Amino acid sequence: MTIEYLHTIICVTIRKPGDHYMSILGIGCDVEEVDRFNLDKDADKTFLNRIFTPLEQAYCFSFSSPAPHLAGRFCAKEAVIKAFSQASMKIPEYHHIEILNGPSGVPFVSDSGIFEDMGKTINIHISISHCASYAMAVATVSSRDEAKK
Ligand SMILES: CC(C)(COP(=O)(O)OP(=O)(O)OC[C@H]1O[C@@H](n2cnc3c(N)ncnc32)[C@H](O)[C@@H]1OP(=O)(O)O)[C@@H](O)C(=O)NCCC(=O)NCCS
Repeated sequence: MTIEYLHTIICVTIRKPGDHYMSILGIGCDVEEVDRFNLDKDADKTFLNRIFTPLEQAYCFSFSSPAPHLAGRFCAKEAVIKAFSQASMKIPEYHHIEILNGPSGVPFVSDSGIFEDMGKTINIHISISHCASYAMAVATVSSRDEAKK
């Protein structure tokens, strides 16, 4: 029995009509030095506004040390751009990729702006980490298909 045949049997067995499952279309990652993001809320407004949405800036500047959070967000945006590029999708502007945090802190790409319609057909998953010196993030973009009936 081939692996492909075994895989088909397992999928047919566990997928029910109406189930949603995903295929990974692209993956991206990025790492940045935190020092680059030691920015001033007012003096660096032009750069900040080009990259980060008002909600993202409010979140990052709510910390006594905003730089790791800004750097992590920047990494997540770059990771999403790489994932989109790998999936041969149109590359969004940095400030169109809004990274927010859920109640438990889990980061996600908000479905505001250009992602509002896309959200019905794709899923974006991201993960962010930072220490004093470096920040990194990974992102995947996956299709959101309904299993065939
Ligand atoms: C979540 C956790 C793994 C983060 O680890 P850490 O080493 O402190 O932090 P890291 O630098 O690696 O990562 C920080 C990033 O993790 C992400 N994050 C925070 N909470 C998260 C969670 N529950 N799940 C996934 N990612 C999370 C955020 O993006 C955060 O960066 P940001 O605040 O700039 O957006 C750690 O706090 C933990 O184990 N918590 C226990 C679970 C928990 O707290 N649950 C929430 C209860 S309300």
